[in-house]
Amino acid sequence: KKKLLMDVDTGVDDAQAIMVALAVPNVEVLGITCCHGNTSLENVLKNTLRVLKVCNRLDIPVYRGCSQPLVAQKLHAGDFHGKDGLGDAPDPHAPGLELLQEEKAVQAIIRIVNENPGEVTLVATAPLTNLAVAVEVDPSLPEKLKALYIMGGNTESRGNITPCGEFNFVADSEAAHIVLDRYTCPTYIATWEFSCRNILPWSFCDTWLAQDSDKARFMERIFQHTREMVQTERYQKELVAGSGFNSCDSYALAAAIDNTLVTESEQVAVTVELEGKYTRGMMVLDYLDLLHKKHKVFIMKKFDLERFRQMLMHALK
Ligand code: BDR
Ligand code: CA
Repeated sequence: KKKLLMDVDTGVDDAQAIMVALAVPNVEVLGITCCHGNTSLENVLKNTLRVLKVCNRLDIPVYRGCSQPLVAQKLHAGDFHGKDGLGDAPDPHAPGLELLQEEKAVQAIIRIVNENPGEVTLVATAPLTNLAVAVEVDPSLPEKLKALYIMGGNTESRGNITPCGEFNFVADSEAAHIVLDRYTCPTYIATWEFSCRNILPWSFCDTWLAQDSDKARFMERIFQHTREMVQTERYQKELVAGSGFNSCDSYALAAAIDNTLVTESEQVAVTVELEGKYTRGMMVLDYLDLLHKKHKVFIMKKFDLERFRQMLMHALK
């Protein structure tokens, strides 16, 4: 089985990514570490447990991670994922935080990777604070990872939270900088523009959510708010490839499960701008090797959308 460790800030698309991971038989999710991001860490923890409950997988260990960025002020994704980060569609029987592991996220990442050297694929769909702290504590972490998949950053200076900054990289730019510098394992990035160009058409979303299952009904409920937000003028401006929903985190997750979904990628050294007045948090691509960075990441370019949609369909069955 493929061993995955997920680092999330459970909003709607993180929830979708988790559900995809849990539905694939040859994948073992060793744990889910939580980070501040879309919403407060407390909400992220609750949301993650709710998703696991719907999937009947409360056996998967969930860990408390960093509640704020390394240096910057806390930044949440506004009301995009609902005030609670999961569409403001509460479950009165939601599991309580007593189900969390005692061990904290950073320690768990280090322990799990060290117990399974060369075998763990880490998927990060949140600000990268937990990963940055983990590599500070255990610098040998990257060489023991099989691969790292990140949803974050941008390639064409299109932003979603600032004019040219993607949320996860803006929410903790210092952490993103550390991770891109220090994680020298094979690294694949699903950028904001990549996901924008591979959007899920509404016709697909309708069929996807209309499936007769508790999981689909849950997704339909938590998705309602975001679906309405996406139709507003502000979010319509983000669309570059037709109208639909951008399940950003699911691309990184799906690629981590099956790398052959990535039908075209580009290998380049990258870093993150930490100072610009308008550009802080923007990913910088060094095509000319002027920064002399040995490590080059894979920027995803094209995706097997047919198989990706099949994975999403299957996740809510
Ligand atoms: C990223 O930010 C969050 O809102 C999403 O969950 C995704 O991880 C997109 O910029
Ligand atoms: Ca996320």
